[in-house]
Amino acid sequence: MLQTYCSQPKYHPEERRFRRRDRKGTLVSEHWFISGANRGLGLEFARQLTARGDVVTASVRSESSARALGAQLATQHAAVRTVMFDVRDEAEIAAAAQVVKAPIDVLVANAGAAGPPNQSATGLDFAAALDLFSINALGPLRLIKALLPKLGGPNPRIVLVSSQLGATTSLKASSMVYCASKAALNKFAQCLAAELQPRGVTVVAVHPGWARTDMGGPEAPLAPSRSVEGIIAIVDALTIEDTGSFLDYRGRVEAW
Ligand SMILES: NC(=O)c1ccc[n+]([C@@H]2O[C@H](COP(=O)([O-])OP(=O)(O)OC[C@H]3O[C@@H](n4cnc5c(N)ncnc54)[C@H](OP(=O)(O)O)[C@@H]3O)[C@@H](O)[C@H]2O)c1
Repeated sequence: MLQTYCSQPKYHPEERRFRRRDRKGTLVSEHWFISGANRGLGLEFARQLTARGDVVTASVRSESSARALGAQLATQHAAVRTVMFDVRDEAEIAAAAQVVKAPIDVLVANAGAAGPPNQSATGLDFAAALDLFSINALGPLRLIKALLPKLGGPNPRIVLVSSQLGATTSLKASSMVYCASKAALNKFAQCLAAELQPRGVTVVAVHPGWARTDMGGPEAPLAPSRSVEGIIAIVDALTIEDTGSFLDYRGRVEAW
């Protein structure tokens, strides 16, 4: 296991750049943990959150990704710490979790993969299918298991980045393993919400929309910035009353 910091964490609680007010009008800065933050939606989370003064711990898979993330964030660099792990590796995640500062206010399980193209029920590559389940469905659970003790603050929240393709009514046969892995994640989200409600932890699944990332492709209609801006606004407003919801980036309720 490796963990690095893209920069020395320079801030002290009293020195945080408070940019945002909570519902009572109090200025706040929160600590967000984002998995898979070197590109795509995860990078956009890191960019937007640091720009408004939140503190971000970002997971990446390699030293080169950590450097790339630092370069992308440039001036906001000081507010980002990086840890390194693959979401398929429980030991790596557990070791990385040791160095994550508590409390984490918001844990975003964002890292995910699409799997091989042209997935088919009759021509299934079983090893690839198991691997995708390990990333998309079990990866978030590994993360939560390791980081739950660090989750805290007045309003702890867990956000599972899922997909509309995981809904039971959705059908995209060529992505069937991806769909099934997100369907499993959705079920885990419901179960987690029930399990963590007594501890005051809010758990939601979100559909980020079809966004122009490596996964979404160049044809996707939605800018990653718009998707993430919407999700952040939703997460800011979440309370325990919302636990167990499946929402899209505009805050619309999604069908499970
Ligand atoms: N984009 C869309 O239209 C869309 C739609 C619905 C849902 N989603 C979901 O949104 C999330 C982010 O998607 P995206 O579009 O930003 O995808 P992306 O651009 O392909 O980025 C995926 C991120 O996940 C990381 N990752 C992949 N496998 C990993 C592993 N085994 N361990 C640790 N990190 C891993 C990648 O790291 P590396 O660079 O190291 O590979 C990368 O940082 C995913 O959960 C995806 O399913 C996306």
